[in-house]
Amino acid sequence: MNLFLLVLAAYLVGSIPFAVVASRLFGLADPRSYGSGNPGATNVLRSGSKAAAATTLVGDCLKGWFVVWLAGELGFSAGAAAVAGLAAFLGHVYSVFLRFRGGKGVATALGVLAGIDPVLALVALVVWLIVAGGTRYSSAAALAAAASAPLTGLVLIDDTLVIGVLMAMTATLVLRHQENIRRLKNGTETRIGEK
Ligand code: G3P
Repeated sequence: MNLFLLVLAAYLVGSIPFAVVASRLFGLADPRSYGSGNPGATNVLRSGSKAAAATTLVGDCLKGWFVVWLAGELGFSAGAAAVAGLAAFLGHVYSVFLRFRGGKGVATALGVLAGIDPVLALVALVVWLIVAGGTRYSSAAALAAAASAPLTGLVLIDDTLVIGVLMAMTATLVLRHQENIRRLKNGTETRIGEK
């Protein structure tokens, strides 16, 4: 398989919108029709179904991890595997199955981090848990966790392409959270579990 096909396949895998799939499986409304409108685990939780939210989280996370793992198994370099991860992440954010209007990419980014280096994912997860535990804001936790990834990467990883991928994911995550940032600033952001 060449790099172009790998990136294309990764983009398609990343495009699978587990929030929409899980909601259908559990007989719930489409997550784009309520709450923040975001097809992601945090918003699916607003439906009241923890099982659907957990399914979304695991599915979105696994697809990110899977493509990076698969690229490694196929013999691609660490940089090429990270690019495949970025393609999956962008697939989630600009999903071909959702007319290029996907989610914010938090769970998928976590999976990509786990595929690149589990320590990156562990640090991001710990940051997420600390900020979410302290504020109950999923978005603030996601932004702090996203910021941690390139910083941890600079300490752990000696590969410019991989660092570039981490920075690109963080920049995209921040861009996708513009509305959340506005709500955090004016005090109207919804806390985890609130409708
Ligand atoms: O996982 C996305 C999260 O950071 C924000 O989600 O639905 O509150 O905009 P939401």
